Amino acid sequence: MRVAPARKINGSISLPGDKSISHRAGLIAALAPGSSEIANFSTAQDCGSTLACLRQLGVSIEVDDEGFVRFAGSQPLKAPDGPLDCGNSGSTMRMLAGILAGQNFSAELIGDKSLSSRPMRRIIEPLELMGATIDSNDGKPPLKIHGSDRLVPITYRLPVASAQVKSAILFAGLFANGRTTVIEKSPSRDHTERLFNGFGVPVTTNDDLSITLDGPARFTGGAITIPGDISSAAYFIAAAMLLPRSELTIERVGLNPTRAAFLSVLHSWGAKIVTTDFRSERNEPMGTITVSGGLHSVPRDEDRVLSGPMIPSLIDELPLLAVVGSQVPGGIQIRDAEELRLKESDRLLATTENLRAMGANVEEFDDGIAVSGGAELRGATIDSFGDHRIAMAFSVAALIAGGPTEIMDSDCVGVSFPEFFSLLDTLAER
Ligand code: S3P
Repeated sequence: MRVAPARKINGSISLPGDKSISHRAGLIAALAPGSSEIANFSTAQDCGSTLACLRQLGVSIEVDDEGFVRFAGSQPLKAPDGPLDCGNSGSTMRMLAGILAGQNFSAELIGDKSLSSRPMRRIIEPLELMGATIDSNDGKPPLKIHGSDRLVPITYRLPVASAQVKSAILFAGLFANGRTTVIEKSPSRDHTERLFNGFGVPVTTNDDLSITLDGPARFTGGAITIPGDISSAAYFIAAAMLLPRSELTIERVGLNPTRAAFLSVLHSWGAKIVTTDFRSERNEPMGTITVSGGLHSVPRDEDRVLSGPMIPSLIDELPLLAVVGSQVPGGIQIRDAEELRLKESDRLLATTENLRAMGANVEEFDDGIAVSGGAELRGATIDSFGDHRIAMAFSVAALIAGGPTEIMDSDCVGVSFPEFFSLLDTLAER
């Protein structure tokens, strides 16, 4: 995909449903005895992988053209007739593994090349402690899950801050007899906790970062409208900030604090961002975001370093924040983010190489990067590494570059946001 520089970003949009919330709403609806209807379900290929796996497990799901997904409910899961293909989706594989751990059959989870190289010991260990048996390729997919209908509850301290691992354990906890407790290192996205509570399974979050659930527990089905995907919105918000005469409004977008932290970061770097019209759906907050282009203030030194417990709440936006950082007076640093090397690509490497290709001055560390500010980016050929978030982050960089940029393997944006390039074309004035 060729992306030309733009003068500004203008318009008012709403976005397809949040990917993280859609996965969870789909899994919950599949387990609920009654029927459920999910509106504004994510159009991401990843969420399509979740639905396809659920269908193979015998769940009756209808999808219509208007983004409604309907679940008939009331069927116990059945053994699949072949491997369950999670595609590129770590969320599908890890959370589904939690559910499969509690079934009285075996199932195999497979994925694409990228997913097949991602670490799974982080879920294998706790799920085996609960009573499942899991075969893997040396801690990587494919995973063969031999479930148990007699799971035992555990108290488990997460070695990594990961919402996917936390959620895998909580989903398994639904099938265990007694209290399951997960203790986080630092807070990660809490959609599972919010939606479990929203669909009738009490989950308690305590001040010591422990989360508890009493099993066995069953959801009540029902309706939900998924808020627009704030991680997809992030690209347009950053683009509007970087192009001074922009005016952008995004309606009905998710504003969960464990996901919206990048808004505060951009604000501290000089962005003019206003949030209004708050409401919530099954405990998930949403509202309207308005961005007026330009950097309106100079950041304080301490705001130019992203590190420590804030990292999990920024995790998917860090490549984009590195791109924005190249324009921030004084530059920025990201540390304590070694998890970025274990995402759909090694995002520290991909971000470093591509920023350098565009002329930015970047230092790479084991756990992060430093990006010098005030860079005059030039158009370049960008290697997306087949990673949707890298392709989109560098499409934003392309808008402020001196000449056109070519994004290689750009189709990968479909993993989370198939409409990205067409929407960018509508919003960008050249
Ligand atoms: C996600 C959690 C994060 C994030 C991913 C989606 C989720 O992964 O990077 O895009 O929906 O729970 P980790 O939990 O592995 O950090």
